[in-house]
Amino acid sequence: MNIDRERFLEKLKLHWEANDIPNISKENAKYLRNMLATNEVKQLLEIGSANGYSTINFAIELEKTWWNITSIEFSQLAYEEAQDNFREAGVSDIIRHYFWDAREILPLLEEKYDFIFIDGLKKESLNFLQIVWDMALPWATIVIDDVIKFRYKMESLYKYVVAEKIDHEVIQIDSDDGIMIIKKPCN
Ligand SMILES: C[S@@+](CC[C@H](N)C(=O)[O-])C[C@H]1O[C@@H](n2cnc3c(N)ncnc32)[C@H](O)[C@@H]1O
Repeated sequence: MNIDRERFLEKLKLHWEANDIPNISKENAKYLRNMLATNEVKQLLEIGSANGYSTINFAIELEKTWWNITSIEFSQLAYEEAQDNFREAGVSDIIRHYFWDAREILPLLEEKYDFIFIDGLKKESLNFLQIVWDMALPWATIVIDDVIKFRYKMESLYKYVVAEKIDHEVIQIDSDDGIMIIKKPCN
């Protein structure tokens, strides 16, 4: 595979920005990649691949070790674009990519994950968190995107993590938005 993936991602980002596609920002991609490297993540689950920008970023980081990515997308157009982009970036063989509604397929999956990235419909964020909770390994990291800009769609999530005493922090990544990082306890 001779393609320069970082340049490929730059190109995709410019194209998608011009087309108003809500990919994570470059700063967020850098931050999350650093988290993956630091935590030595091996099994990653993503809800909402869109056209694959975040997924390819994760794949570039995780392929340095033994790893596995599952990503789910329910828009056919986005799913097909991501498939093309995974092929071009040379990562398609190593990503399990489901064209499915995450709310329906997640209960059917048997794998456990040490990193879960929730970036689907914002008002469903609490629902996604509850669905993936038992799929997260002890000490897993769960990251929920866009929690500042779209907090008004996620009030139930904010209330839930406080009420359930779930270890979490909200970090502003850039001027655009931030993420909620949740650490699952060991029991
Ligand atoms: C913010 S975009 C994801 C951006 C992507 N993670 C990135 O940074 O490159 C959200 C995506 O989640 C998808 N989505 C939303 N709800 C979903 C669900 N229940 N199941 C599967 N995909 C979903 C949408 O179709 C959309 O493409």
